[in-house]
Amino acid sequence: MKIAFCCTDTRPEPWLDGLRATLPDAEVSLWQAGVASEPADYAIVWAPPQAFIDAQPRVKALFNIGAGVDALLRLNLPDPLKVVRLDDAGMAVQMAEYVCHAVIRHFREFDRYQEAQVEREWAFRKPRPRSDFSIGVMGLGILGTRVAQALQAFEFPVNGWSRSPKTLAGVQTFHGQGEGFEAFLAASQVLVNLLPLTADTRDILSRQTLARLRPGGYLINVARGAHLVEQDLLDLLDSGHLAGATLDVFRTEPLPETHPFWAHPRITVTPHTSARTLRDESIAQIARKIRALERGEPIAGVVDRTRGY
Ligand SMILES: NC(=O)c1ccc[n+]([C@@H]2O[C@H](COP(=O)([O-])OP(=O)(O)OC[C@H]3O[C@@H](n4cnc5c(N)ncnc54)[C@H](OP(=O)(O)O)[C@@H]3O)[C@@H](O)[C@H]2O)c1
Repeated sequence: MKIAFCCTDTRPEPWLDGLRATLPDAEVSLWQAGVASEPADYAIVWAPPQAFIDAQPRVKALFNIGAGVDALLRLNLPDPLKVVRLDDAGMAVQMAEYVCHAVIRHFREFDRYQEAQVEREWAFRKPRPRSDFSIGVMGLGILGTRVAQALQAFEFPVNGWSRSPKTLAGVQTFHGQGEGFEAFLAASQVLVNLLPLTADTRDILSRQTLARLRPGGYLINVARGAHLVEQDLLDLLDSGHLAGATLDVFRTEPLPETHPFWAHPRITVTPHTSARTLRDESIAQIARKIRALERGEPIAGVVDRTRGY
């Protein structure tokens, strides 16, 4: 069995070593533009160029070393090719940490305490009722479900929104465009975005939707930058309708030095790091799936290419 590895932005050697150790019967090679390569049976990729896809006509399954496949689906992929995303592989717990941290930092007003410390000021802030602090999680997939459950452990009221109906213990769930979405937004004070980027979800965090959050709303975007209309967020922060935002993803990454988000007093910026791909967990998961495919068994995480996730 031959496996081609083509991941831009990633040091290949540790991946190649790990894959060879985990799949000793496979021939694992690094794909390089302009260098002739033998056709592979499986490919492991992150943001591969179209030239890689064109040079690998025999590949049966393309394993993406991330959960989001929006960039991959923009390529011209042959029809029978299976696209497989990572399911969790250590990302869900990281996402839960990140979102709980952002929510609690805002809820408990830790930024105000930090300012008070600078002034050597000993001043309590009045506790805010937790029941007024409802959190809406957009996307109840692998990551959104884990995040909703983690927030519940802190007894916040949690709402969830998905494309199809879902039941999640202790979470008030909504689904679909129209009334379901309106009701979900109206019931939420903090919005956490964990949707995949598709034609239906691009620009979904706009003035129209963010203005429907309860006054004093807060946005946490950990999915994709193109979900957010950035100027609409700035306008709603300026008008006072939104209290702040924690943003991990941006329309242009790295975030340009001159971007207004960097210096905004009510925006926290992190460099697309809320849930990193963990190499060992990912290699183990991909190896398990390759072995299952070789035995002719079905695997989880196959992307529905018409749906876009
Ligand atoms: N910042 C980072 O470091 C980072 C890391 C990993 C992933 N991500 C992002 O997180 C996203 C989510 O990951 P995941 O593994 O949780 O994805 P997933 O398991 O595919 O779940 C996607 C969820 O979104 C819902 N959804 C999709 N389209 C919708 C629509 N039009 N309206 C309402 N709901 C919709 C789905 O509804 P159904 O349940 O009805 O299908 C599902 O609940 C990824 O696509 C990626 O972009 C970011």
